[in-house]
Amino acid sequence: MDYLTVAMAKGRTAERAMKFLEKSDVRFSEFTDESRKLVIYDDKQTIKLIFVKAVDVPVYVEKGAADVGIVGKDVMMEDPRDIYELLDLGIGKCKLAVAGFPDTPLENIPFLTVASKYPLVAKEYFDKKGIRTEMIKLNGSIELAPLIGMSDVIVDIVETGTTLKENGLVVLQEIADISARLIVNKASYATKTADIQQFINNMKEGLEVRS
Ligand code: PRP
Repeated sequence: MDYLTVAMAKGRTAERAMKFLEKSDVRFSEFTDESRKLVIYDDKQTIKLIFVKAVDVPVYVEKGAADVGIVGKDVMMEDPRDIYELLDLGIGKCKLAVAGFPDTPLENIPFLTVASKYPLVAKEYFDKKGIRTEMIKLNGSIELAPLIGMSDVIVDIVETGTTLKENGLVVLQEIADISARLIVNKASYATKTADIQQFINNMKEGLEVRS
């Protein structure tokens, strides 16, 4: 059976994507919140869903291990891949921003230390402003870095703003609007065009029902 293989990270975005597909009668009855399965199939056995780490979704898609992926734009900005980005799903909306203490100067300064999960995006952003940077790559709890004096600012995802607020930090500058995107392997798009188009249409239908 030639499944359409779809890669996504477990979590809220994956659950919403599955909900969208249900509107087109594509159901994953096998899926439960508690399940630790990494591979599941829809009830009609046409889609094979693989659960991977978010930062790895574009890797699976570029290599052709998955035909389609659903992943945040932030991941693709930091690690651009040779894939097609075909649809903005409009879910998982948040902002990529520079944040820090309210009085942190960001203009007319020669140098900043920056903690981030997105060191390449952050460096490029400050390079364009003519500010030299020392990048400290972290993998989580980024907000801690300015609190303990490890960095001047952070570049991170801000969704509700709660994490910043509870730690006395604020958004200083917005870098980009982020949302989940549907990405496609280039060869798959040529060989499985109809299946991929159907999948995209099903997702679109779910998006329309929602809005
Ligand atoms: C993300 C992000 C912020 C937080 C923002 O972290 O890195 O820390 O969410 O959300 P908020 O604006 O709604 O508070 P995540 O929850 O992925 O955990 P992490 O610290 O392990 O990266």
